[in-house]
Amino acid sequence: MNKQLRKAVIAGNWKMNKTPAEATELLGNIVPLVKDAKVEVIACVPYVDLYAALEATKGTNVKIGAENCHWAKSGAFTGEISADMLAAVGVNYVIIGHSERRQYFGETDKTVNMRTRAALDAGLTVILCVGEYLEQREQGVTAEVVSSQTKIALQGVSEDELSRIIIAYEPVWAIGTGKTATAQQANEVCALIRKVIADLYSKEAADGITIQYGGSMNAKNAEELLDQPDVDGGLIGGASLKAEDFSVIVKAADR
Ligand code: PGA
Repeated sequence: MNKQLRKAVIAGNWKMNKTPAEATELLGNIVPLVKDAKVEVIACVPYVDLYAALEATKGTNVKIGAENCHWAKSGAFTGEISADMLAAVGVNYVIIGHSERRQYFGETDKTVNMRTRAALDAGLTVILCVGEYLEQREQGVTAEVVSSQTKIALQGVSEDELSRIIIAYEPVWAIGTGKTATAQQANEVCALIRKVIADLYSKEAADGITIQYGGSMNAKNAEELLDQPDVDGGLIGGASLKAEDFSVIVKAADR
């Protein structure tokens, strides 16, 4: 309904893939394929690829993001990277709260909130991931899970700052499994998240926020998913590693 009010965003999540040389090559292939895109195109890449990725996309419409950041500005956190460090190298976006972080690295709603806060303070735009496990969907608690993840992640985030929040609805059972949510399922939960934003902030805030679907989105199913009224874009894992497929998804969002 208010889809025209929102910016469509297609973001790749490369996860733990590609060396810097491979990143340069892949982006070299992606850039010409998406150069006329009207939607926002982002590639979120491993930390060590950031420099190469920023170089490969300089002066183009492809933006670069990281896949996580720590909540502290600096300090004794061996192996971690701060939001300020990302901003300093020229990164504009960061994924926070991806289910793989929650599942394998002890990420909680609380730390997702702290990281989100740190990223906003550093001037970054956050791609905030929420989504339910298969058991939760089967138990009928998807709405509760996704609402509470969204509410806790946004604690202390002002309505103004929402312009730098993109929410990615990623049902965990659909990630990397080849099992996509149906377009109706995806839309239903994206609409629910929008309702949560309306309740927390305002109708204008809800109308303006970009909500992506993620989970086995690919060149074949992107169009149907992106056609849904509450799906404003995609967070793409596997298919973002293939320039052709990724560009087909960007084109589907452009329609
Ligand atoms: P997938 O990953 O597209 O490979 O399912 C999506 C994601 O985890 O962001």
